[in-house]
Amino acid sequence: MVTPIVALDVADRPAAQALVTRLGASCRFYKVGLELFAAEGPDIVSWLRDAGKSVFVDLKLHDIPNTVRGAARSVARHGASLLTVHASGGSEMIRAAVEGAHEGAQERAVASDGCGILGVTILTSMDAAGIGEAWGREQVDVTREVVRLAGLVAAGGGAGIVCSGHEAAAVHSRFGEALGLLIPGIRLPGGDAHDQRRVMTPRAAADAGARWLILGRAVTGAADPVAAMEQVAASLAGAV
Ligand code: C5P
Repeated sequence: MVTPIVALDVADRPAAQALVTRLGASCRFYKVGLELFAAEGPDIVSWLRDAGKSVFVDLKLHDIPNTVRGAARSVARHGASLLTVHASGGSEMIRAAVEGAHEGAQERAVASDGCGILGVTILTSMDAAGIGEAWGREQVDVTREVVRLAGLVAAGGGAGIVCSGHEAAAVHSRFGEALGLLIPGIRLPGGDAHDQRRVMTPRAAADAGARWLILGRAVTGAADPVAAMEQVAASLAGAV
C-alpha cells in the first residue's frame, strides 16, 4: 500500500491549520519540515496527532550518535510516525536514532505504532558535480551512491530511505521490502513540474516501489486541494 503525505511547507501554525482544515478527511498524514518545526517547535507534532493525523518530521538529523539518539527520542515522544536522518551519518548514528525513536515511542502516554527512521541518501538538489565537490571525489555515480547509502540505513535498522523516483527501482531491486521508499517530486499527470527536475506521477512512483509519497505543490498549490488528493488516489488506482 502507498501512503500519500502532504508537506506542510508553511511558515507557522495558523497557515498549517488552514491547510489541514481545508484538506479535511482527504489527508491523514502530514510532513512537518525544518521551517515549520523551527517556528512552532514539537508542539506542532502533538497538535497534528491530537487532530487525528500521522506526522512525518523531516529534520534530516546528522550529528554524533548520542545527540541524534536524544533528538529522535524527543521527536518520537511527541508522536511522530517517521523521522529523517542523513544516511551519511553512518550506520552507528542510524542505529542510535532507531534506538532513541523506540525509547521515545515507548514513553508516550498514549499507544504508539512507533517512529520509523528514514535515511536521506543524496539530496535531489545535488548533482554528480556537487557531490564530487562536497565529498572530494572525481567521479560520482549517483545511483550507486544512493544504493550504498541505503545499505548503511539497512545495517543501522532504519525503516527506509528518501530518494528520487529515478533511483527507487535500483534500491527496491537491491533491498526489496526491507527498506520502505519515500519519494518526493510527485506531480499529477499533466501537472506543472515547478522547480523540480525529476518528477513522477503517483502511479509511476508506486510502480518504482514507493511506500510513501510526498505531495507538495501538486496539492497545496492546487485551486482545489481536495480534488487534487482525489486525483492522487485515482492515479494510484491506475485510473489516470
Ligand atoms: O512537490 P514539491 O516540489 O512542492 O515538494 C516539495 C517538498 O518535497 C518539500 O517539502 C521538500 O522538502 C520535499 N523534498 C523534495 N526533494 C527531496 C526531499 C524532499 O522536494 N529530495
